[in-house]
Amino acid sequence: MKKLRNSLRYRLFFWYILSLLFLGFFIVLTVHIYKLPYSNTLLAIVFLILSMVGFIIIYRFTKSLILLTSQIKLISSKNLENRITTSQGKDEISELSITFNELLDRLDKAFKRERQFIGDVAHELKTPLSTLKSSFEVTLQKERSNEEYKRIIKDSINETDKLTKTLKDVLDLAWTEVPNESQKEIFDLSEMMNEMIEIGQKLALKKQIKIIYSIAPNIKMKGFRDRLGRAILNIIDNAIKYTSNNGKVHIALLKEQNNALITIKDSGQGIEEAELSHIFDRFYRGSKTNKIFGAGLGLAIAKATIEVHRGAIQVKSKLNYGSTFTIALPLT
Ligand SMILES: Nc1ncnc2c1ncn2[C@@H]1O[C@H](COP(=O)(O)OP(=O)(O)OP(=O)(O)O)[C@@H](O)[C@H]1O
Ligand SMILES: [Mg+2]
Repeated sequence: MKKLRNSLRYRLFFWYILSLLFLGFFIVLTVHIYKLPYSNTLLAIVFLILSMVGFIIIYRFTKSLILLTSQIKLISSKNLENRITTSQGKDEISELSITFNELLDRLDKAFKRERQFIGDVAHELKTPLSTLKSSFEVTLQKERSNEEYKRIIKDSINETDKLTKTLKDVLDLAWTEVPNESQKEIFDLSEMMNEMIEIGQKLALKKQIKIIYSIAPNIKMKGFRDRLGRAILNIIDNAIKYTSNNGKVHIALLKEQNNALITIKDSGQGIEEAELSHIFDRFYRGSKTNKIFGAGLGLAIAKATIEVHRGAIQVKSKLNYGSTFTIALPLT
């Protein structure tokens, strides 16, 4: 009831109906029943009072609207931290300004995140580029043997490969912000998983890690096949990267009700409890990754891509025992 009383619509309707009732009542009273001598004057007074009340209500209503509009006009991408201040009431206009302020909160956060992301990308690219440049400069300082030149060029190619990978990852991540829904296709998830396992087996060869898998056949879903494949591969790649030689990686795909469930389990170094909540953040790298190359983008891309498919990813991990990533993808 209180909420109703605060409502502008309620207040306007209330006054409108009240005015009509009063007017009708007085017309009947003065003209027909009593045939009062000052009926015209009385009617004029009632009319005057009602119109004044109406005027005040409309004035206050439009005043807060005008105030709201003028404040919204002042907001741009440069002052997203500003907030709107309107009347103290609890009507629809104050509700609108609260909702608008919440929208500003979300936009402000998104803008800050993007700015931070651009800063991180710039930093991530700047460091290897300046390393490359200084290694070239040092090389040019004196004459060197052919063997030495070859070694330096090989190292540089390795560095540019890493740069290219980081750039590709950044592009993948940018794609997850605005995926083109019309490019979704129906594909065989089981087939795609088998392909990724094949790539995983090649990656695992050097460390003699055994990949054990069980893939349920003929699971079809609609989505972005290549992107999802790359997301899954990022997780398989981690399982291999963070598991020592002769370890094991288990990969499974099964259908459970209307979901496809993918699990990727490794017998690797595991993730510390305190780090678990950060591993899906962009550019986050765990503390035990000193000698292992990476930009900290793999899981951020995987998570964003899975969410584009309305799925979810979860992780369980025990330090020194291994980690299990579980992905649920809706099939309908
Ligand atoms: N299977 C795993 N076992 C142990 N730690 C893991 C595993 N997967 C991820 N992590 C931890 O999570 C962090 C983030 O993973 P992510 O894949 O996003 O980045 P990365 O592997 O370091 O680099 P990139 O994938 O960009 O090459 C890693 O640095 C690592 O500390
Ligand atoms: Mg990774």
